Amino acid sequence: MHLAAAPHREPRDPAVSLDNHLVRSVRAPAPFMKWAGGKARLIPQIEPYLPAGPLRYGEAFLGGGALFFHLAGEGRLESALLTDLSTDVYNTHRCVRDEPAELIAQLRTYESEYLAGDADERAAYFYWMRSRHPAETPMSDVERAARMLFLNRTCFNGLWRENSKGHFNAPHGRYAQPNIAQAERIAAASQALQQATLVQTDFRAWPQLVAEHGLDFVYLDPPYQPVSATSSFNAYSGGGFSARAQRELNDVLGELDALGVRWVLSNSDCAFTRELYQQWNIHTIYAARQVNSKADRRGDVAEVVVTNRRPGLRW
Ligand SMILES: C[S@@+](CC[C@H](N)C(=O)[O-])C[C@H]1O[C@@H](n2cnc3c(N)ncnc32)[C@H](O)[C@@H]1O
Repeated sequence: MHLAAAPHREPRDPAVSLDNHLVRSVRAPAPFMKWAGGKARLIPQIEPYLPAGPLRYGEAFLGGGALFFHLAGEGRLESALLTDLSTDVYNTHRCVRDEPAELIAQLRTYESEYLAGDADERAAYFYWMRSRHPAETPMSDVERAARMLFLNRTCFNGLWRENSKGHFNAPHGRYAQPNIAQAERIAAASQALQQATLVQTDFRAWPQLVAEHGLDFVYLDPPYQPVSATSSFNAYSGGGFSARAQRELNDVLGELDALGVRWVLSNSDCAFTRELYQQWNIHTIYAARQVNSKADRRGDVAEVVVTNRRPGLRW
């Protein structure tokens, strides 16, 4: 459903039309999922390395889409292509863009069923929802997206985490009053996504995609290279994204550069990434360490922001 076209359509059912105050929402768009490695809090530090807009923008590892929503909210995008390998990331963004009212209605159902229970009943509801894996349980795209958002809002630490089989496996979180439907946030995100093309694909497709979509800037935020690993280029993996994948991504950066496309990449700051990106510009930024207890805080963690800014590329 396109929000701009909503007044011209007969609502199929009052339960699935967006409330008027949501359609008029002037709330700034923001990620609607809490995401491991999400960049929302780092944007002020990434911002100085971004080219001036308007941008024909690409984002190759969408996740929660923090930078896209930031740039869209500031009106700095002429167009956008957003991709991720994950079916859930793709499907949830597509449903937010195209079926926000249906999605909010489904989330409100889950929210009222969950909040009606006592602590044990809520936990049982969470684990029932978690056990309904989309590959094994028939469900619509909207149900699948609502399941993802429900689990993201009610799990421990609010982070999407999958095991090696691709099954979500974070435990229950026990928040007193989680905002599961987050209708205003979904409505604002839906408006921002109207200008975006969404594709489920691997990062290796990007040299072809920039040409097909006429993009002039790409942001790449791959799963972090683990900092504790040795600095040698051995094959080790982190979050399913191996050192070999990091090197193949660096080859893609070279191809984008040869095509005259500007790009910015984020990664962890370690010997491996410093060596891998040595031909590019490497800048250091600092992220607050994610800890459960303030007593554990041991200072901030360095990350790198890498760019291909150079003479001959308008920035
Ligand atoms: C660090 S997260 C991106 C976070 C995002 N920038 C944000 O602010 O929320 C990395 C993303 O890369 C995706 N991913 C992992 N392997 C991939 C691959 N081979 N190709 C494309 N995307 C991949 C994951 O599904 C995940 O959403």
